[in-house]
Amino acid sequence: MKAEILKMLRKNDGYISGQQICEYFGVSRTAVWKAINQLKEEGYVVEAIRNKGYRILSSPDITTKEELESQINTSWAGRTIYYYAELDSTNLEAKRLGEKGAPHGTLAVADMQTAGRGRRGRGWSSPSGSSIYMTILLRPDLEPNRAPMMTLIMAYSVACAVQEQTGLEAKIKWPNDIVIHGHKICGILTEMSTEIDYIHYVIIGVGINVNIQEFPEEIRETATSLSLELGQAVKRSSLLACVMSHFEKNYQVFMETQDLSKLREKYNQLLVNYGREVKVLGETVSYHAIALGINDKGELQVKKEDGTEASILSGEVSVRGIYGYV
Ligand code: BTN
Repeated sequence: MKAEILKMLRKNDGYISGQQICEYFGVSRTAVWKAINQLKEEGYVVEAIRNKGYRILSSPDITTKEELESQINTSWAGRTIYYYAELDSTNLEAKRLGEKGAPHGTLAVADMQTAGRGRRGRGWSSPSGSSIYMTILLRPDLEPNRAPMMTLIMAYSVACAVQEQTGLEAKIKWPNDIVIHGHKICGILTEMSTEIDYIHYVIIGVGINVNIQEFPEEIRETATSLSLELGQAVKRSSLLACVMSHFEKNYQVFMETQDLSKLREKYNQLLVNYGREVKVLGETVSYHAIALGINDKGELQVKKEDGTEASILSGEVSVRGIYGYV
């Protein structure tokens, strides 16, 4: 009921009477009063005026289940939410939920992680109160070798949502880091449970540096946050909801063709590496090339110094700018 009340309060810029809320839910005045008081305790500022009703003045920067349910307007992406004030890792939790049969679109969200996981076995620093840590569980009817493309769809969706919510020029560093002014604000870690020709589930974990002000020594040079770039705090729940809306829409487009043919051009427009010289770093190879953008499979097309072209598969090699991270 709290999420619904929040939704009602947000919809009405003016006041909404206690009576209207009672009638809507078929509950007593006391029940409504209790729910409103709980919201106040969580940090919502709700004004109550006699003979007029309630009006929401401000919301705290939290990502609780009720707050997210009141903000997310999708049909399946993030409609089932598991929120934790503290968790080992939302990727680990999404896997546990996946094993227990949780539905397509289930979202695990944490305010802080004690064992946040990054790509290539690295960790992901996850302090409380300032960032988004979330993982969506998907059950696509798709060949397993096509699943990595979903990571690019999430990257594109995050970049769109960041631009929409903050006006900042978010770019994608292939395959799936989001950068602003050359510094990383988001990392994505996709994992899956499959058989040779069947996907049980895919989980896409997203970490967004939203209002964090300080980073650990080892990433201080390459990382930034939205609030550092914008000069003001960003509401995490609105951004998260916006990511879900974009992701649901883009996922639907992807599933029509099961490749990136319909999203490729838009993705390439946001690619920070586009047309730039990059360093391709593999286990056995390392060379300079010009990035030409992704193809329909999400591979990065590059032009080598000898004029030949190559397609790079994410996971096999990493790409750096010739002067550093981007
Ligand atoms: C990267 O190394 O760039 C990927 C980082 C992914 C971090 C996110 S935070 C939410 C989710 N849970 C995790 O443990 N990792 C991902």
